[in-house]
Amino acid sequence: MVKLTVRNLSKNYKDKKGKSSSALKRVSLDLDINGIFTLIGRNGAGKTTFIRIVSTELLPTTGKVYLEGVDVVKNPKDIRERIAVIPQEAALIPWMTARENIYAYLLWRGFSFKEAKTRTNAVLSRFKLEKYADKLPRKLSGGTKRKVLVALVISSDAKIIFLDEPTTGLDPISRRELWEVLNELKKEHLIILTTHYLEEAEELSDYIIILNKGKLVKGGTINDIRNAIGYPYAIKIFGGFNKKIRLKGKVVKKNDGTFQVFSDEKSANNLAKKLIKTKIKFSINPTSLEDIFYMLVGDINKEEENENE
Ligand SMILES: Nc1ncnc2c1ncn2[C@@H]1O[C@H](COP(=O)(O)OP(=O)(O)OP(=O)(O)O)[C@@H](O)[C@H]1O
Ligand SMILES: [Mg+2]
Repeated sequence: MVKLTVRNLSKNYKDKKGKSSSALKRVSLDLDINGIFTLIGRNGAGKTTFIRIVSTELLPTTGKVYLEGVDVVKNPKDIRERIAVIPQEAALIPWMTARENIYAYLLWRGFSFKEAKTRTNAVLSRFKLEKYADKLPRKLSGGTKRKVLVALVISSDAKIIFLDEPTTGLDPISRRELWEVLNELKKEHLIILTTHYLEEAEELSDYIIILNKGKLVKGGTINDIRNAIGYPYAIKIFGGFNKKIRLKGKVVKKNDGTFQVFSDEKSANNLAKKLIKTKIKFSINPTSLEDIFYMLVGDINKEEENENE
């Protein structure tokens, strides 16, 4: 378990004219976590700012962050030994092969030539990257480059790994291949991840926080978040919907003409019974993170409330 404590964390950036804008606003967290911890939020929500502060790259304006009890502002060196970071838009060094990139990183982290070589070979083999090892980055596909970057950061001893949007721009297959790597890694490491792919966040995460305009909107396991919003179930009603059936919960009309009703367990059961009786086709699922995200930070004007049962 890794302890992460964040108290009233705020960050204001100043532009050239000295005008201040706020990227994080009094964010607080108290977590004892393992596995994959994911930050989601729209562009500019503050995810990268959060990662840069926790990984000691950036100083907060106010507030405190403790990682494993260590104050990240007061003792950045202590933290840096325990972490490894792939920043958003990170790239391999273009004139070095995949193998040389990993090897150079390990030397830079202070390993001996011998140890760095052993570790480089071990990590290349662990992620089945041997056949790409002696190629320059420009000869590798985007997905393979990301895998090499992940291999690089985990080749050291770092227990905590920060990955800022590691799967952005990858095709669905490459993304899933990287998920496998992350699922393997989470057995030994805490991974702090950001992503805009919400089905990815839902599939991988042990803990999720939703940021919006610098504020913490919700945090928890996907089930905690489902329950906290009060709509843990999503019923999708296909064509032929009988308007006489009264709906309780949040009702959204989809572009394809279907209706989606978000509700609690009791209302979902009641509605399902009625739909079965009237032979209307429907599906029932736990509410997806994508739907939760729209409810919390999306355009709420498209939704109608219906509480008239
Ligand atoms: N170095 C900087 N100087 C000034 N403003 C900044 C700086 N870095 C980020 N910001 C601003 O802070 C806010 C949060 O940015 P941040 O990069 O943390 O968001 P993000 O959630 O990572 O977004 P994205 O999903 O686009 O990567 C944005 O309004 C951004 O314009
Ligand atoms: Mg970012």
